[in-house]
Amino acid sequence: SVINVVLSGGVGSRLWPLSRKSQPKQYLPIFDAETLFQKTIKRNVSFCDQVMVVGNVENFELSRKDLQNAGIPNYTEIIEACPRNTAAAIAFAAFSAQPDDILFVTPSDHLIEAGSDYQLAVVRAVQLAAEGFIVTFGLKPNKPETGFGYIEAEGEEVKGFREKPNVETAEAFLKNGNFYWNSGMFCFQAGVYLDELKAFEPEVYNTSKTVFESAISGKLDFDLSMKIPSISVDYAVMENTKKIKVVKSSFSWSDMGSFESIYDHFKSQGHKVDSKGNMVIGTKVHTEFLGLKNTMFIHTPDAILILKKDNAQDVKKVFERLEREK
Ligand code: GDD
Ligand code: MG
Repeated sequence: SVINVVLSGGVGSRLWPLSRKSQPKQYLPIFDAETLFQKTIKRNVSFCDQVMVVGNVENFELSRKDLQNAGIPNYTEIIEACPRNTAAAIAFAAFSAQPDDILFVTPSDHLIEAGSDYQLAVVRAVQLAAEGFIVTFGLKPNKPETGFGYIEAEGEEVKGFREKPNVETAEAFLKNGNFYWNSGMFCFQAGVYLDELKAFEPEVYNTSKTVFESAISGKLDFDLSMKIPSISVDYAVMENTKKIKVVKSSFSWSDMGSFESIYDHFKSQGHKVDSKGNMVIGTKVHTEFLGLKNTMFIHTPDAILILKKDNAQDVKKVFERLEREK
């Protein structure tokens, strides 16, 4: 069967103070009444026979609440004791499935328009996965973003996969024209993924297997989990596997990773961003900007953040400092 593996273990530190450890961004109704997590589940439900949520002990109650509110009664869950990154999170899902089950792995924090382009892409990906390939989704890049993975493609063949290049490399990729952004969604058979993980990152494979096998009613052990090397699926498998394919598509996609992507999204929708490029989030109180441009004002009941758009990536540092000072 086809299983939608929903990765929901991230905190979203670049969206502080909207996003908190206790309320990560995927559970915030930022865009309308639905959360990004709910949108993810609903978008993919028609392609899949099962939903499997991989999240952590700090937020699985939020997942349960969202699933209930979205009217999804049937799902399975894997509850991590602590985040050990996506190579391990996907391994847990794969261990709990049959080797020939197809995993459609999706982040839970993207905004995607699920029109016919999206549908075609997913259907093709499932086909390729059934043939034994590890499938990525490639999107046309429009800036030298350094927070993404890049896929060098020729048709559905992949010449190379490069995770988070530096800005010079990203610029060269953009100029070249054969490079696509990795969407962060993947499709493959559980057994194929585990074989590749075992080949390229045996320690991640072995330690996550031990953790999975010693789990008690879906809950994983903390001390054992801490032994798993923290590495993302992109570095662990995608940069190394020869079984990789890409499905190129042009569905509207946004990684709501930072205030810059939220800003770009609202700007493209023609609201919230004023003529000087200033934006307010989190308050209906009338706000004016004087002599400022590309400034964002983020209001929450107990914290305010004011930043220039160019500093969107630095929000993570504030989050980390506040965590240390706790
Ligand atoms: N369960 C679980 N456990 N989920 C996790 C963990 C974990 O330890 N760590 C991260 N996640 C979830 C996040 O919540 C998110 O939904 C997804 O896995 C991807 O993790 P990110 O941390 O957001 O990755 P990224 O944005 O830096 O990079 C990935 O996505 C880009 C597109 O948005 C890569 O796949 C890039 O290549 C890609 O371009
Ligand atoms: Mg992300």
